[in-house]
Amino acid sequence: MSPLPRQVKLVEVGARDGLQNEPGVVATATKLALIGKLADAGLRYIEATAFVSPKWVPQMADQDTVMRGAPRREGLRYSALTPNLKGFEAALAAGAQEVAVFGAASEAFSQKNINCSITESLRRFEDVMVAARAANIPVRAYVSCALGCPYQGEVSPEQVADVAGRIYDMGCYEISLGDTVGVGTAGKTQAMIEAVARRVPLQHLAGHFHDTYGQALANVYAALQCGVAVFDSSVAGLGGCPYAAGASGNVASEDLVYLLQGLGIETGVDLAALAAAGDFISGELGRPTRSRVATAMAGRKEKQA
Ligand code: HMG
Ligand code: MG
Repeated sequence: MSPLPRQVKLVEVGARDGLQNEPGVVATATKLALIGKLADAGLRYIEATAFVSPKWVPQMADQDTVMRGAPRREGLRYSALTPNLKGFEAALAAGAQEVAVFGAASEAFSQKNINCSITESLRRFEDVMVAARAANIPVRAYVSCALGCPYQGEVSPEQVADVAGRIYDMGCYEISLGDTVGVGTAGKTQAMIEAVARRVPLQHLAGHFHDTYGQALANVYAALQCGVAVFDSSVAGLGGCPYAAGASGNVASEDLVYLLQGLGIETGVDLAALAAAGDFISGELGRPTRSRVATAMAGRKEKQA
């Protein structure tokens, strides 16, 4: 076990992972207002959208307008998912400052999510890497199904390490390990990270935990204990994947920041402003937040009023 990191990098994925799974259309203006509030809260890495096929994920069809319209701030970086060269070129033209390729440790999920094998996906990512290097754009990568697959069930830590290693060798600067279905537990998280860290240096790993079984925050803590210092989260706990039925949202950003503050770990995020962003989007979507911290903060405010 390593000492806990003093600082943690937060990657806010609410506008992408959070909204990609919404049953109804979320207005582009609402997405832009949300992104502005997240930036105001001090988040410095915001995954704004996905340059994927609108036939596959209709909720991301306004990717170009979202990326072009996102308010620019000093020190704030906007990223987007790019599954292939077509997506990369569109993201670059729209002003993405970083992109993310997304692969899987499970063959079945790769087929369902991006319609190709793991090997073919890596070949497509190579094309993105070449173009990104030429344009001086940093590339992040996801490895989905790091703790289980919705189609295949168990996924071994070695399988995750193998795919993560091959993607890292291509030149991705950060590999985010995705518990896509949110089935992982703390012990499994540590075993998986230990296996991956034998292949990819720990400082290049990130945790991306969905909260389906209520384990996301525990998994974050388990990953922190291994020395991971980058985490993805969604404001108000929004999210899921259209190709992982039943999976719920990411760990809520408010809950993650509260945990990190309690541990004395710096994030640079203003929790009250973040909770206000969560209130905003929950109001727009017409349902309560999934963040326990935001719920508790709202309850205290009501009592004081
Ligand atoms: P395909 O049908 O195999 O692609 O889809 P294709 O190359 O045969 O092209 C078919 C059509 O798609 C063509 O258009 C292309 O132009 C178009 P048509 O001629 O039919 O009009 N196309 C594109 N359009 C826009 N942007 C593009 C693009 N590429 C081709 N980049 C493809 C392959 C990858 C495009 C498709 O499967 C796709 O878009 N999948 C997206 C899946 C997705 O977004 N899933 C959710 C995100 S992943 C996730 O949530 C997990 C994560 O959070 C981590 C975790 O939790 O584990 C990241
Ligand atoms: Mg996800």
